[in-house]
Amino acid sequence: MSTGSFYITTPIYYPSDVPHIGHGYTTVAVDALARWHRQAGEDTWMLTGTDEHGQKMLRAAAANGVTPQEWVDKLVTESWFPLLETLDVANDDFIRTTQERHEKSVQVFFQRLYDAGYIYAGEYEALYCVGCEEFKPDSEIVDGTGEFEGLKVCAIHSKPLELLQEKNYFFKLSEFGDRLLELYKTQPDFVRPASARNEVTSFVRSGLKDLSISRSTFDWGIPLPWDESHVIYVWVDALLNYATAIGYGRDEENFARRWPAYHVVGKDILRFHAVIWPAMLMAAGIEVPRGVFAHGWLLVGGEKMSKSKLTGIAPTEITDVFGSDAYRFYFLSAIAFGQDGSFSWEDLSARYQAELANGFGNLASRTTAMIDRYFSGLVPAPAEYTELDLKIQKTVADAAAAADRFMTDFRPDEAIDAIWTIVDALNGYITETEPWALAKVEAQRGRLGTVLYTAAEGLRALAVLLSPIMPDSTAKLWEALGQSGRLVDQPVREAGTWGQLAPGATVNALAPLFPRVEQD
Ligand code: ME8
Ligand code: MG
Repeated sequence: MSTGSFYITTPIYYPSDVPHIGHGYTTVAVDALARWHRQAGEDTWMLTGTDEHGQKMLRAAAANGVTPQEWVDKLVTESWFPLLETLDVANDDFIRTTQERHEKSVQVFFQRLYDAGYIYAGEYEALYCVGCEEFKPDSEIVDGTGEFEGLKVCAIHSKPLELLQEKNYFFKLSEFGDRLLELYKTQPDFVRPASARNEVTSFVRSGLKDLSISRSTFDWGIPLPWDESHVIYVWVDALLNYATAIGYGRDEENFARRWPAYHVVGKDILRFHAVIWPAMLMAAGIEVPRGVFAHGWLLVGGEKMSKSKLTGIAPTEITDVFGSDAYRFYFLSAIAFGQDGSFSWEDLSARYQAELANGFGNLASRTTAMIDRYFSGLVPAPAEYTELDLKIQKTVADAAAAADRFMTDFRPDEAIDAIWTIVDALNGYITETEPWALAKVEAQRGRLGTVLYTAAEGLRALAVLLSPIMPDSTAKLWEALGQSGRLVDQPVREAGTWGQLAPGATVNALAPLFPRVEQD
């Protein structure tokens, strides 16, 4: 995608859980990708939100003695909106599935599916996991142990499953197997990475069952328009957020402008996004998503991190110490996007010190300080470029081009690696050219100007390229470089073109972008 519309989404999270670094990971990845495309001049839209219906929420509210709406309002206001501030996320919209815009459009969608003959009523008897909000397939049902001896439990949550017997409405998912397999084949990028595509393909090959899409034993959900004694199953209600938020069933013009979307999700919810969701869209005659990208687990102490396993770390625990940019940088650079990755405080701290404080931060401080000292704070004009300077220019151009390819390809970690070649090259360049020694020799004045121009112009490129990853520190750097206009308006695809920094601009010496942190 080089032009046109770019619409990207996070999952909508269950607000009954406290936000942890797993939720934060998906959200900052999507935000960085959205910022990149936005800064490339594309018509970008980033959506996130909360998944507010279902039994999990209903029970949490009951346990707290309030209505589900009161409970969810409190959670969203106290925990989920602030998460976006904590992580410096520039989402364009936030959808809550209890909003009228969503509920109405979900009803429009289901009425259409019903009218088209894709929904029928049937009897249902199956084991349900409230933690997953899902009827479990045999492969995820195991025998309980300890206090749950003799019971069937969920393989993920290790909690007893509940046997449900009721009249349900069903979606004819089983009719879509062939079309889905065809989609995975003709559009190999539809599910990424390849490991996720393989998993989904073999799942669909093994045969699809029709999907229960309504529940009648509780009422915390969206009523089916043709039978108000049923509420819509929370997962299909939730998936529709991606369409309702941009106007499906309500503002078709905006829907046409934004749709289809890229969905970034954790691999736990891959099947919902890569199997059920495109089948629902096919049934409704709507284009399938552009793609579904499933990233891996964050592991803490070797275990998937989740609140139920009590290893949850709140994002503020990290940002309070290291700042939001370091959070964003760490998770996006340290973990290969699409694979599992381990979080540890030691690793975070080591990378903060080596890459941010000593690498990027120090480069910014010493370059601005030397321009301040040797050129009274005015960007010097370059004199003649030598081989060494031209090598830097090539590094910048190559890195910018590679970073764009990687970001477009959903590989933020590799994009950062590419951008970091500029940081490393410039630090080496300064060591080699020794501007402090050049400054002592009047005859080297021109050379000193070229060296500091080269360093400052490299920093200019770094500010533009790293802005989607680290919006806060790069904005400070941009200001210190005396540049006019907002950094977020600088076209990221032109960042590698040499010579954009205007000589004569006023540079301010910069306080450390990544100050030393107190270790405990
Ligand atoms: O599943 N590592 O919501 P949810 C990485 N409401 N990412 C993690 C993670 C971990 N250990 N733990 C959570 C739901 N995540 C549904 C989604 S969408 C239509 C409905 C992230 O609150 C990851 O993105 O359980 C995962 O897919 C998501 O949180 C699950 O969030
Ligand atoms: Mg979950």
